[in-house]
Amino acid sequence: MSVKRKFATRAIHDGEGRDPVRGAHNTPIYQTATFAFDTAEEMAEAIQNPLDHFFYSRTANPTTAALEAKVASLENMEAALATSSGMAAVALSILISAKAGDHVLVGSDLFVISRQFFEKDCPDMGIEVTFVDVRDPHAVEEAVQPNSKALFLETVTNPNIYIADLKAFKELASRHGLTLIADNTFLSPALFQPQSYGADLVLHSATKYISGHGDTVAGVLAGSDAAMRAARLKLDSFGPCPSPLASWLVMRGLRTLPLRMRQHSENALALARSLEAHERVEWVKYPGLESHPQHALARKLLPRGAGGIVSFRIRGGVAEMNRFANAHELFGIGVSLGDVCTLVYPQPWRDNLIRISVGCEDIEDITNEFERALDEV
Ligand SMILES: Cc1ncc(COP(=O)(O)O)c(C=O)c1O
Repeated sequence: MSVKRKFATRAIHDGEGRDPVRGAHNTPIYQTATFAFDTAEEMAEAIQNPLDHFFYSRTANPTTAALEAKVASLENMEAALATSSGMAAVALSILISAKAGDHVLVGSDLFVISRQFFEKDCPDMGIEVTFVDVRDPHAVEEAVQPNSKALFLETVTNPNIYIADLKAFKELASRHGLTLIADNTFLSPALFQPQSYGADLVLHSATKYISGHGDTVAGVLAGSDAAMRAARLKLDSFGPCPSPLASWLVMRGLRTLPLRMRQHSENALALARSLEAHERVEWVKYPGLESHPQHALARKLLPRGAGGIVSFRIRGGVAEMNRFANAHELFGIGVSLGDVCTLVYPQPWRDNLIRISVGCEDIEDITNEFERALDEV
């Protein structure tokens, strides 16, 4: 009887194995556009069943398939699909769940380009969208329409760091026949597995914690075999497949996901506490802090850590925020998150919110750098 191995072991080994052709211990990068067959008959069979063969790398590639098997294992789903970006995974999740004339419910605190997709592109495709507050399951239920097909939410929202209580939404989704779609980018399966709370589809910007080193743009989507076959057909039509090198980088990053997420979470909590105690800081948002309005929910849903994203605001205005950001020596100012390097993202258009993607550096160096930058304010 095969025993299901534990998470860190699966993160390292699942999907991978000794290469049967040359015996390479590490998964090779199959940098090829197409695949050649021994016979014309074999090729004809592959063309007729393109989802069951390596045939052309837009549809499937062995390096990408190794990544997909690892993601499916870590998200406890039957199957997974890798994409060229997180936004491709967002779009595919909707394209397989709704069509023109349907309606979808979407958590209103949302990554800005996901918002653009739901606000502009979905209506252009004839898909109606209602934005809902994920902190209020009752209001979400009231927004359900007879043509509602899906509920899309971020498990921890970008940028306001709200937590969605997936358990409550699963009951609601089942009652109304909605596909429950969870964007789990901010947490990763090392901290939270939406499938165990009833999500039908889970997706990530793999650009972030899943790859973890800020060296590639990619996405992943996971769900049932049937859903992933449908998504692969859409990927074939629309074309957002990852390159084999991108798949390999994401897969290599995944091997250390549990180690990284533990360090991100520990560092983020320590930094959030030190910021909260600082006189120049007006407020701090981090679900691991007792002051977070959903701290009790965070303790229940996120016992392994609340992730690496901290938002805060400095007393004063945009000048103070900029002086703080510009004073950093070690850390970059930039968008994105989930990298082992700490990143500072000042947002003057959001009432001077500063989002920190807390990295895996030594915490003393992180807090020293922040204290020095706060002194410069
Ligand atoms: C929560 C979330 N979902 C999706 C995306 C889109 O991912 P990508 O930038 O890889 O397309 C992002 C990007 O920041 C994100 O933060």
